[in-house]
Amino acid sequence: MCGIIGATSSRSVGKILIKGLQLMEYRGYDSAGIALNQKEQVFRLRALGKVSNLEEMMVEHKPKAKTGIAHTRWATHGEPSEDNAHPHGSNDEVYIVHNGIIENHESIRARLKKEGYKIISQTDSELIAHLIHFYKQKLGKTTQAMIEATKELKGAYSIAVIDKDKKGKVFAARQKSPLLIGRGIEENFVASDPLAIASVAEGFYLLEDGDFAEISKDKIKIFDETSKEVQRNETLIEATATATSRGGYKHFMEKEIYEQPESVGNTINGRLGENDVLNNIFGLGSSDAFKEVKRIQFVACGTSLHAAKTARKWFEDICETPCYIDFASEYRYRNPLVEENTLFVSISQSGETADTLAALEYAKSKEYLGAVSICNVPTSTMARDADWKMFTNAGPEIGVASTKAFTTQLAALLMLAISIAKSQDINKDKRAEATQDLRNTPSLLQEAFALKADIDQITENIASKNNALYLGRGMFFSIAQEGALKLKEISYIHAEAYPAGELKHGPLALVDDKIPVVALAPEDSLVEKLLSNLEEVKARGGTLYVFGNAKSKIEIKRGKFIKMPECGTYNAPIVYTVPLQLLAYEVACHRGTDLDQPRNLAKSVTVE
Ligand code: AGP
Repeated sequence: MCGIIGATSSRSVGKILIKGLQLMEYRGYDSAGIALNQKEQVFRLRALGKVSNLEEMMVEHKPKAKTGIAHTRWATHGEPSEDNAHPHGSNDEVYIVHNGIIENHESIRARLKKEGYKIISQTDSELIAHLIHFYKQKLGKTTQAMIEATKELKGAYSIAVIDKDKKGKVFAARQKSPLLIGRGIEENFVASDPLAIASVAEGFYLLEDGDFAEISKDKIKIFDETSKEVQRNETLIEATATATSRGGYKHFMEKEIYEQPESVGNTINGRLGENDVLNNIFGLGSSDAFKEVKRIQFVACGTSLHAAKTARKWFEDICETPCYIDFASEYRYRNPLVEENTLFVSISQSGETADTLAALEYAKSKEYLGAVSICNVPTSTMARDADWKMFTNAGPEIGVASTKAFTTQLAALLMLAISIAKSQDINKDKRAEATQDLRNTPSLLQEAFALKADIDQITENIASKNNALYLGRGMFFSIAQEGALKLKEISYIHAEAYPAGELKHGPLALVDDKIPVVALAPEDSLVEKLLSNLEEVKARGGTLYVFGNAKSKIEIKRGKFIKMPECGTYNAPIVYTVPLQLLAYEVACHRGTDLDQPRNLAKSVTVE
């Protein structure tokens, strides 16, 4: 996902734009660029890599202008290079920054070449600048030119545009990629993420798909695709400056790991009664609708999918509901059969993941009972597309590796299971126990942080290896998968999770003294079987790191047993996540990777 920002003001906007890019850098950081509408010309600077490289160039050139656009890129079309960096220009007149993907870029490229345009980059975005220029030549007005140009685009885009001949104005358009207008004092803004302009905007207008905007420092005009002016409600957004500072921690990821007691507390606050969830915590009518739920179809990606896989057991146990779980990128291509009274549930921290949004879009054309979204960003597309929703209230998650998003998603999913059971008036005792476990979760997460001392003793050995195995049974296999994903995505160690019982069917061949084996051994009905699986590892000289408790204590010659806090039946998976997050974080620190912004990744993947 790229970050785009535009500003028009009574003051110079260079610093505002750079600051905005820094606040969006977690979304993508292959290159960054800025274009400023100066008196005689548009001044453009572009830099490979981080925003700090662009900032250094700005210090050198000291450009001044009261209108401009800027961009931080996560490459989708064309490798990271200066030519491919935004802003892209056409004939030194029209400059554009773009977030999204244009699916019919080949045909547009061919057509523009025929019209005599010299196309410099490999990107789809540059073509939009030329198209707008083409229509500007024909129509004269930049807004109309933008409207006509975007009619030719297929795919997703949010764009901000400046025109050399239209001083003081920024033009914008939104289609399936988030974009909002920020109202300031003698200045106005456009951005793909409220965080970018939270400190300079007093109110926000969330553009809808098909909206266009023309802003100057003292006027905001929003149009639909017929060029009719439309009103959008002004909203306030809680994005505060503290949310985007590291708050004394070394990394955003570290901060977000340690925020989890508070963020899970914010997820459950106002949603739990004495021994049950409150009614309609997923929105008006949800409690009634949940009476009919016979099965659930989950779709998500990455960490959010691991949350669904972990939660399956809660739905089978508490509300006796079978679950289908699909990778969002696979779901709609398998032409799923939809049985009557199936609830569709999408899970996404960002609410902008293209694969998950596309799955939700597809599901809405099918005969599901309805769609529930569990999401962390209230202004996101997913939050607006679902029938019912629960915001996890974790606060902005800046580290690319999801941490507090995962544990708050689990808390939300447990409340969904209780909510459905309550609507169907079953398993009152289990609902009460799960509610109590939820209430105890923040303090147990806090207790789990003490495990860092144990983690510090095993970090060096794991950091020196290139492979790792993670084992768990039942729900703890999905937690092991999440732990393995954390390690691989921030330390670049190849980590793979297996159901412990599966080890002997092949993966055991990997076990020797070079591959650390991390195992989750909660005291549950499967602990005896798990311990015998671990004996298989020991017998082959494997190095075992086991997280368990008194009943699952196993003699370990090579490795370490780490005692977990005593958890409840329903909150154990949430608590067992913490040491795996800490382990991944400490190993990545040891390896010195750019763990808040790991190579090749972006915080929210808005392309399929
Ligand atoms: C997890 O650490 C990664 N950041 C990634 O797998 C992420 O969970 C996935 O891209 C889904 O993102 P979403 O929750 O914003 O939809």
